[in-house]
Amino acid sequence: MGMRIRIFDTPHDAGIHVASLAERVILQNQRPVLGLATGSTPIQFYHALINLHKSGLDLADVVTINLDEYASLSPHDAQSYHFYMNKYFFEHVNVAPENIHIPNGIASDLAKECLRYDAIVQRNPIDFQVVGIGMNGHIGFNEPNDLLLSRTHVVALKNETIESNARFFDDISRVPQYAITMGVQSILQAKQIVLMAFGMDKSCIVQETVLGGVRTDVPASVLQLHHDVTVVLDKESASGLMDKRGNLSTQQTS
Ligand code: GLP
Repeated sequence: MGMRIRIFDTPHDAGIHVASLAERVILQNQRPVLGLATGSTPIQFYHALINLHKSGLDLADVVTINLDEYASLSPHDAQSYHFYMNKYFFEHVNVAPENIHIPNGIASDLAKECLRYDAIVQRNPIDFQVVGIGMNGHIGFNEPNDLLLSRTHVVALKNETIESNARFFDDISRVPQYAITMGVQSILQAKQIVLMAFGMDKSCIVQETVLGGVRTDVPASVLQLHHDVTVVLDKESASGLMDKRGNLSTQQTS
């Protein structure tokens, strides 16, 4: 099966859809494992999942594994992904603290931290993986490159990623230059993957991801190799997937 495309009027509606997909997985598994992402895009998903929790969905048995974290930022740093996850999700739900996994960006030995994290991913096969997409096609922090690494690794962030993510920092000089990220194989091992993207700025990269070939310089395109991917878009981010009549195009570009 190719990638399933779902296009919504607003990110809000899209977030509700992703939360309902997650709910199904949570209800179907005794110990559901959710792979979670950060960035501005999944916020609406977290919001909708929090609403489901408030209306009765129990998350006590859920295990979460985050995709990535900046190297050198402590969990208390407001720009860290630890901080983000607490603020936008964990503070509002009943996921048990011991079931929450996020790479430790301030581990004294980052190489060891990558091995520790890989072991967590292997022990807890991900049932439902949410990913956003960087403007350059990165997933997690798997940056465009000649080769993509399979497992958790330390990555030097590309200038364009530092520039793009500077919007969350006081000053671009404060954006970390390195990060820890799950590798592409770890992402592809998830049973089900949901890629979310919103806004006109993402329309080109979404088009390349869905309709282009599988290329290491568009890391998100590797998701084409997975058998259960849903691409959740708003009308703007989906605009590059439409033909002249406004129908979804299936025409691959080179
Ligand atoms: C960061 C994260 C990615 C995320 C990307 C896009 O670089 N590491 O996981 O997909 O930002 O962020 P946004 O959703 O804000 O566009």
